Amino acid sequence: MSSSTTTTTTSPSTNTESWGSRVGLILAMAGNAVGLGNFLRFPVQAVQNGGGAFIIPYLICFLLMGVPLLWIEWSMGRFGGKHGHHSTPFILDTMDRRSFWKYIGVFGIFTNIAVASYYCYLESWTMSYVFHSVAGTFAGMDQGQVASFFEKYVDVGVSTTGIPYEAVIFFLLCLILNTWILSKGLSGGVEKAAKIGMPLLILFGVFLAYKGITLQAGKEGALFGGSVGLNFLWTPQFDSLANPKVWLAAAGQIFFTLSVGMGTIQCYASYVSKKDDIALNAMSAGWMNEFVEVVLGSAILIPISVGYLGIDRVIELTASGGLGLGFRTMPFLFSQWGTFIGAFAGVAFFGLLFFAGITSSLAMGTPWMGFMQDEFKWTREKAALSFGIIVLILGLPTVLFFNEGVFDEYDYWAGTVSLVVFALAETILFAWVFGMTKGWKEINDGADLKVPSFYKFVIKWITPFLLIFVFVGSLIGPAGGDWGAAFAGLGNGEGWNLDNGSIIAQLMNKGIKQQIAATTDSALVESLESRITYINGARLLLLAVFLTAAYLVFVAYKKRIREGRFS
Ligand code: TRP
Repeated sequence: MSSSTTTTTTSPSTNTESWGSRVGLILAMAGNAVGLGNFLRFPVQAVQNGGGAFIIPYLICFLLMGVPLLWIEWSMGRFGGKHGHHSTPFILDTMDRRSFWKYIGVFGIFTNIAVASYYCYLESWTMSYVFHSVAGTFAGMDQGQVASFFEKYVDVGVSTTGIPYEAVIFFLLCLILNTWILSKGLSGGVEKAAKIGMPLLILFGVFLAYKGITLQAGKEGALFGGSVGLNFLWTPQFDSLANPKVWLAAAGQIFFTLSVGMGTIQCYASYVSKKDDIALNAMSAGWMNEFVEVVLGSAILIPISVGYLGIDRVIELTASGGLGLGFRTMPFLFSQWGTFIGAFAGVAFFGLLFFAGITSSLAMGTPWMGFMQDEFKWTREKAALSFGIIVLILGLPTVLFFNEGVFDEYDYWAGTVSLVVFALAETILFAWVFGMTKGWKEINDGADLKVPSFYKFVIKWITPFLLIFVFVGSLIGPAGGDWGAAFAGLGNGEGWNLDNGSIIAQLMNKGIKQQIAATTDSALVESLESRITYINGARLLLLAVFLTAAYLVFVAYKKRIREGRFS
């Protein structure tokens, strides 16, 4: 028997969580969105994709994909909440009678757990760097020493045991803190953390952005070193509009930063009361995220590092360093401002990252907790503790095998690919299966903002097609983003030349295999081959998490039928 859209009159869940206030809800939602992605990922993506070339596709993706997805996810969440569901499997299930939707909804649990497993590790670096800034560890270090402090911290072939002890300890501390706050519930824990964290984050951010913009460093020969970095980011280059690779990067950043395609927003929104506004709330949280990303996020890391190191060096560093850039360079650059301001700037920067991170990782805990509370009647404390333990187990490989690429592998599958897949599926469900007539009503019900009717068209016709474009592009994107050459290759028998970053090429480990083929150094071959083993292991682990979550959904579904509770 398939599930049906009929609902029981009483809420099947013993889960009685709710938000304390509207301000609290918006801050928590903004806290979910504003994260390490805004300060570390965004600037790096922008630099890697040509600075000003990135911004236009980015903003277009925000308006045509990000904003519609915010409305879709908020309204799906509130709709599910009315029926007593607080995680995507059964939220999706109430929207259509076909029973496979609940298994698509598994993504909304899986992604959060898998992302939390590497995100909390990154978050724990920020905790440790706050500590070291206060303790004065970086005082007097030169650039190389700061960089090697980081290498040692994550243990790039330094210790003999292969265990980065300090990193493990901070990772544990970070998980304990997350678990403790989650166990206090939404209004008593998550909302409080957002009310403290978000204002402090903005305060620190404004201070650092001011320093970044007015920085007088001479590396680029400019009076204001900062403005060179800003110009680089903000001088639009219209020819980039024709480059699919830049579009994919922009779309990926929009997903990650807004936390859409993850199931987290649905979970938070399912605790909103029935008649509460979602149209305006969604925009408040979404635009707050964009302010933090585009204004604060682009005025700190890049202007300061460009000011001191020059554009070329920064491009080089982002190419190899990625997310580590801030940790490798910033403590040294801050120390140029003198001991005291340098230490304060360190606390401000890593403190800001910490608040950004924790308000996001808390959000990642809630879908799993909501699911176990709804379906298996777990207490909040038990649900929070189990989340902490799962993240510890899944996170340890990212800590211990960081250099073998496990961290990046989690980020690729859970933090990039899944988001697109799930967003595409839920948009089709919302706009085409549930239907725009009902969907539009859900979005506008109780709205304090008149949603422009243009968006009814966008959600039905533009967003899904953009998502298909993004999905196909990521799946089979050709080398260098050159579609013309790829099609020509099909014609002349050379075949389709996949980009190493495309999903299919990644699955086949194409990039690493090329490296192996290109070298005669047997030690390098050996280390690359062991890298493949670790990467495949990480994939199997992620697959196991997905299948376990799907199995739990299946068990919950059978349990519902036994108890006569149809979704
Ligand atoms: N948006 C967050 C950031 O910019 C990341 C994030 C928050 C996230 N919640 C999530 C990622 C849930 C995956 C799943 O850093």
